[in-house]
Amino acid sequence: MNDSVKNNKFHITTFGCQMNLADSSTLVATLLTRGFQRVYKEKEADVIIFNTCSVREKAEERVLGRLWDIYKYKKDKPNLKIAVIGCMAQRLGEKLIEKVPHVDFVLGTDRLFELPDVVMGHNGFHPVMTAFGYENMDAILPVKENNFSAYVTISRGCDNFCSYCIVPYVRGEERAHSADRIVENVKRLVNDGVVEITLLGQNVNSYRWKDIDFPGLLQRIISETSIRRIRFMTSHPKDLSDRLVEVMSENDRFMPHIHLPLQSGANRILEKMGRNYTIEHYNKIVDYIRSRINYVAVTTDLIVGFPSETEAEYEATLRAVRNIQFDAAFMFRYSVRPGTLAEKYADDVPEDVKIKRLNNLIALQQKISFERNQREVGQTRFSLIEGTSRRSDAFQRARTEGNKIVLFKTGDFMPGQVVPIRIASADAYTLHGEIVEGK
Ligand code: SAH
Ligand code: SF4
Ligand code: F3S
Repeated sequence: MNDSVKNNKFHITTFGCQMNLADSSTLVATLLTRGFQRVYKEKEADVIIFNTCSVREKAEERVLGRLWDIYKYKKDKPNLKIAVIGCMAQRLGEKLIEKVPHVDFVLGTDRLFELPDVVMGHNGFHPVMTAFGYENMDAILPVKENNFSAYVTISRGCDNFCSYCIVPYVRGEERAHSADRIVENVKRLVNDGVVEITLLGQNVNSYRWKDIDFPGLLQRIISETSIRRIRFMTSHPKDLSDRLVEVMSENDRFMPHIHLPLQSGANRILEKMGRNYTIEHYNKIVDYIRSRINYVAVTTDLIVGFPSETEAEYEATLRAVRNIQFDAAFMFRYSVRPGTLAEKYADDVPEDVKIKRLNNLIALQQKISFERNQREVGQTRFSLIEGTSRRSDAFQRARTEGNKIVLFKTGDFMPGQVVPIRIASADAYTLHGEIVEGK
């Protein structure tokens, strides 16, 4: 039964990664079943929720900026409640209220699903909750992002402690969702019309539940459910096994895309980052992936300006990027995170050098993305229609097997359909194509 909730209109904004998007969707579903109502304008809300990210300083600054933006609504509506949840809430706890006194609730990454009880003022629920170990993994149900796709979290937290990274501190230790539950949830999503799932974990390759590892989980999903398209992220190079590549290559329900963060092309930096692989090992994995899977997109994350990174080491990253030829990359300049191991290293690459390195790297990758995308021209890609193009109603937007956006002329097709699209042209970020009739 629904509790009756008086000031029940909520607005939610999600910052950060797919894991946060997944958590927000689950939270929204919970709020709706608990009698809350979603609104899409902050000024109409009784509760404004920010699900936050701490991964770089900028990500936190953005949240703080937005928190001060919405202060004006609180002046007009004194009953308005502001809730900060997720990674930044976890990191700062009470300190967040000291920094921004108009914040009412601060719920960390394990406690955010308790928001409905906190808002309703139920006994035993505090406005600031950040202790780990309280979540009920089986109760975190994956829900649809839209009518045809869903994120399915397979593990929470991270045990890798890469020296620059805040995630293990704000997300806690790695814990796996039960494979039985994952399979059950995928079945439920398929019955609900979902055609594509993305399995999520900070390091999906280290998934282990009882005697089931990640390739084993994939095999179970393939054999026990009829989900049409499967994606996953993120893969860690140190744990990606040949067997994973083999399992992927054996079934075309796996979308041929691997996101494999490299971070740096220099072995000394990789070691200081605590990544536990060398550039030689990384190259071997990518070669193997490309030898086993005929058409596959490989994407990555890269950091420039890590403490003590020399010009020569930065050039090693450029060289790696040139050699490997990624389809796309997310590129960042190093940002010190409090409490991490790398915080103890001097942040000694000057900001202007970091910016220069980043800009040059982006320019190089843009050229490579453009070239990689030219290789798509003339090919037919089975693509999932997501909606209309953000720029023009005359075009619809779909996602290819390799996770690239393709635009095509709006016709009789609906979001959620998988259609063959012949690629006619491409720039560095987007493909353009036409639906192949009669396929
Ligand atoms: N679990 C994933 C993603 C972690 S966060 C993984 O292991 O790759 C996403 C990306 O943010 C990272 O891959 C890294 O490139 C970047 N990142 C993390 N911490 C950072 C920091 N302190 N400064 C700059 N970039 C960072
Ligand atoms: Fe961060 Fe490394 Fe864990 Fe990824 S694997 S979340 S980069 S500590
Ligand atoms: Fe994701 Fe940012 Fe948290 S990247 S796990 S939302 S710190």
